[in-house]
Amino acid sequence: MILIKLGGSIITNKEKPLSPRKKTIENLTKSLRKITEPIIIVHGGGSYGHYWSVKYDMHTKEKKYDLRGVAIIKNSMIELNKIILDSLLKNKQSPYCLPPTDFMTGNKPIAKKVKEIEKIAKSGMIPVTFGDALWYGQNKTYILSGDKIMTHLAKSLKPRLTIFALNEDGLYSDLKSKKLIYELKGERPLISENKMDVTGGMTRKVEEASKIAKMGMNVFFVNGNKPERIVKAVKNREFEGTLFKGKRNV
Ligand code: IPE
Repeated sequence: MILIKLGGSIITNKEKPLSPRKKTIENLTKSLRKITEPIIIVHGGGSYGHYWSVKYDMHTKEKKYDLRGVAIIKNSMIELNKIILDSLLKNKQSPYCLPPTDFMTGNKPIAKKVKEIEKIAKSGMIPVTFGDALWYGQNKTYILSGDKIMTHLAKSLKPRLTIFALNEDGLYSDLKSKKLIYELKGERPLISENKMDVTGGMTRKVEEASKIAKMGMNVFFVNGNKPERIVKAVKNREFEGTLFKGKRNV
């Protein structure tokens, strides 16, 4: 089982509101066809969900947010999700759309529902879920990031490899020279903050990746503009990006 997150920065142009990167999405879905193992896709919000979350000041903390904002964020995520689903269908794959409301209650995953996602993936369909605005309870709502969903799914389904497709080659030890970190064995790199992002940008990704690696699984950060690197990592165990070694593999 392979768990893959298509980051918002790769499937959308984060500089421009509501702008999907259709060609990049197309290249990604085409390449994913070459993977024969069961896969689960999680995608981010990019210039859809994040754009509206910033506008309506909605965050990951459970609170009473503007209800119209919640509705608009959810609607925008459905729109972006549809673009991903259409691209998978066009490339002869069978996506199975799963909004996170299907397997989350409050801020907790529903164990039985999560297990079902694995069965769907093993059947040959591709479960596709995404970061979203969610109901928490007592009139409170919150933003559930796709990165958090990755940790929930990894914890219960123990994927062989967890992949984050980014708009960068991986993590850099030095931002100026873009010197790539090839492998991390439990150490935590320092990340500079991206203030535009309501779910914490790269910091959140590193946080969730470290949690998954600590549970013993390998996590791979890869450039989503080079989808052949995803295929190589899965098929040949060649990692052109940053590999967080799972604790048991260190
Ligand atoms: C964000 O999901 C979802 C919303 C803002 C509604 P992510 O936090 O996973 O999105 P990206 O990948 O960083 O864009």
